[in-house]
Amino acid sequence: MHIRPRRNRKTQAIRSLVEETKVTTDDLIFPLFLLEGTNQKIEVESMPGIYRLSVDLMLKEIEACMNLGITAFDVFPVVPEHYKDKLGTKGYDSKFFYLTALREIKKQFPEAAIMTDVAMDPYSSDGHDGLVVDGKILNDETLEILGKMALAQAETGIDILGPSDMMDGRVGYIREVLDENGFEEVSIMSYSAKYASAFYGPFRDALDSAPKAGDKKTYQMNPANQREALIEADLDVDEGADFLMVKPALAYLDVIKLFKDSYSQPIAAYNVSGEYAMLKAAAEKGWLEYDKVMAETLLSIKRAGADIILTYHAKEFAQLA
Ligand code: PBG
Repeated sequence: MHIRPRRNRKTQAIRSLVEETKVTTDDLIFPLFLLEGTNQKIEVESMPGIYRLSVDLMLKEIEACMNLGITAFDVFPVVPEHYKDKLGTKGYDSKFFYLTALREIKKQFPEAAIMTDVAMDPYSSDGHDGLVVDGKILNDETLEILGKMALAQAETGIDILGPSDMMDGRVGYIREVLDENGFEEVSIMSYSAKYASAFYGPFRDALDSAPKAGDKKTYQMNPANQREALIEADLDVDEGADFLMVKPALAYLDVIKLFKDSYSQPIAAYNVSGEYAMLKAAAEKGWLEYDKVMAETLLSIKRAGADIILTYHAKEFAQLA
């Protein structure tokens, strides 16, 4: 045998030399759940180790993560039911606790990359990402609301907007609203291929944001489709997206790879709540070694082509590194 692949695996030093993929804290965005008030900390039952935090405690959490080398965060609001309405008006009320918290976070950590979520579901009494009229999710009417949300979020000084709603034309619409108002420096990370997935369950528990009726299949993508993801991503590129995201990550590694091969924009993957919950549950039962499967999971997402990974494992990963 002239060729013996095992020669390149014989010592750790050689293995390190030939290692093709490495995940570092630079690649990670840590999603955080914001509560109203102060001194509030409530664990998400289906996501052990993940807490909903009021802004004072979130500032401390961000500081702890920054000390571990994590510099990017995606903040989602937990909106109490009595604030929700048909139009999701709290989503663009500049005095609402989400927007005031974002201002505080940016003030205290100007060097951190802060990302926000643009979609109606946390604020909507229907629990849908768009405006519901007679059981239908209206596209173009939703764009106006998303535009207001995007502007209100941009005004807080955040760095990256994350439209997660899957309405047609929303990236272009939001880009235009931002540019018209002097926010040409605010980035857009589009949830380009966001699938109608059952892996979002724990997130909807965390935010109490599940749809009150129906499902999200008329706007989120069919998990069976790969080529359709290219239609979505082509549009987002044309409309000015700075980053393209695939969500969820693990059951969609083929789509991540397809995006990496098809586009020059940075590719993000959202390692979603259900993917986190699976590893935690197996680890709690003693069936898997958490630290190892977690690191291997993040590695697989990066190897598939993700430049950026949004993951609830971020802090624990940084603590291991
Ligand atoms: C809301 C939104 C969802 C997630 C991020 N933004 C849920 C959904 O679309 O129902 C899911 C994140 C996760 O599961 O970790 N537009």
